[in-house]
Amino acid sequence: MNRRRFLGAGLASLGAACGVPAARTTGAPRPVALAGERLAALADVRRLVVERADPLHGRCRYVAHLGTRQAAQPILLARRGERFDAVIENALPQPTSVHFHGLTLPEAQDGAGFDPIAPAERKRVRFEVKNRCGLYWFHPHAHGFTAEQVYGGLTGLLVVSDEDDDALDAELGLAPGNRLALAIADARVAGGVIGPYAPGVEDCLHGWLGNRALVNGRLDARWTVASGWVRLQILNACNARGLLLAFREGETRVPFHLLGTDGGLLAAPRELERVFLYTGERVDVAIDVSGRRALAAVSLEFDPRHHTGDAAPRHRHPAREQYAPLAAVTVCEAAGAAHDPLADGAELPLFHLVLEGGANTKPPPLPQHLSALPSATAFADAPTRRLRLDFDERAGFLIDQTPYRIEDNAFSVRRGAREVWEIKNSPISMPHPMHLHGFGLRVLRRRGTYGAARTLATEPGGRLATDLGVKDTVVVWPNETVWLALDFTLPDEAAFRGAQRYMLHCHNLEHEDGMMMRNFTVL
Ligand code: C2O
Ligand code: CU
Ligand code: CU
Repeated sequence: MNRRRFLGAGLASLGAACGVPAARTTGAPRPVALAGERLAALADVRRLVVERADPLHGRCRYVAHLGTRQAAQPILLARRGERFDAVIENALPQPTSVHFHGLTLPEAQDGAGFDPIAPAERKRVRFEVKNRCGLYWFHPHAHGFTAEQVYGGLTGLLVVSDEDDDALDAELGLAPGNRLALAIADARVAGGVIGPYAPGVEDCLHGWLGNRALVNGRLDARWTVASGWVRLQILNACNARGLLLAFREGETRVPFHLLGTDGGLLAAPRELERVFLYTGERVDVAIDVSGRRALAAVSLEFDPRHHTGDAAPRHRHPAREQYAPLAAVTVCEAAGAAHDPLADGAELPLFHLVLEGGANTKPPPLPQHLSALPSATAFADAPTRRLRLDFDERAGFLIDQTPYRIEDNAFSVRRGAREVWEIKNSPISMPHPMHLHGFGLRVLRRRGTYGAARTLATEPGGRLATDLGVKDTVVVWPNETVWLALDFTLPDEAAFRGAQRYMLHCHNLEHEDGMMMRNFTVL
């Protein structure tokens, strides 16, 4: 061993001993067209600080410490196979955790909230990115605090790239700046100021809705792009609002191509005019902007089919009672006429793309093969597990009539097992974006779908175009039954040994902090 390597190894073990990750650099290629000042390599993050930046309104942020520089609210980039090894520091006045939504992680690194980080405490988190290219994200997940903290601004993006991703960018001939990773949230804004999280009983039942879109934390967000293809990876980071995403120039609808979903690229693109994007879901789309001047991204008006009674129970979280809200303006008192929300399903402007003058050449054709994604057919003999989504007059929305309890285990599955999950939503209900930790899933079919979702069900089995990809979050509409294919194979590595607990929950964050969540164990 030469002296340099010896020193390197020595420092690395020293780092491990005192809980500080050793310095490292990464040389892996990055998506060159991806725009943004806040880009940082996942592998370069040494500390991730979760802090409250504005105590008056309860605005919070992630700050990544990268050795020589810091990035607030970073967009993290990783190559499939790269590692994260950082200390997460909780500088909030409440418990928190950092859950990496969509990634295949062992329980200890998943940040699901079994083991939240107390204020002023820290936790070292290490993992390898196993997942396909796509847009993943990280957010708080301490039960009872999730909705308030995510609304406070704690949403981080993670763009994973691989060879399929490189090939796609090359075939699209993306100009620098023509690829964006976007988190769309909504906030209650009055006089240009984002109001505090202050849910009343209605908000606890239907979810906390805003009146303005915040894209990557900004109101009235706009990006300048060049002629040709634009590739957008978009996350719905709202607490509760469903989006029906479309693009317009003036009054004209501009079609786009769906390239991918939550867990990466489709086998082949699909041309669409609008797409549902519920909370926690992601889409990857390409738009040809040649010959255009400006595009508006909007959420179109739709009927979200809320059919609930007005019983609106509030949940008590014993853990919450020890901590004050994030905003000095207090929870429940601040909600007033000045911060009236926009109804779910109402039209909402999201962001703008402005074309830069210049060459207006025809872009290359869209590739017809995006990834080697097999069709989800090998599940014919898999046993079916039935799950029911119901409204309970006393407890609100529940999974299988059972309010969440952190110590409960709803069921166990063997690792490597294949199952079909049949999730049935009651007719007296609302759309529930159901999310599973740890595993990507495939949608096999849908039945009993009504309203706008039915008109978009253009694929075999009553599915929507977004059902063709790998998903981790799937909307189940009122009265609908959805069949999902699940493969509980875990990586054969030490980190995944032993029983691993994961969660299934509604990603409407008021429902999640309510009781619409269950734990399950992979043995
Ligand atoms: Cu995005 Cu369990 O969460
Ligand atoms: Cu998750
Ligand atoms: Cu729900």
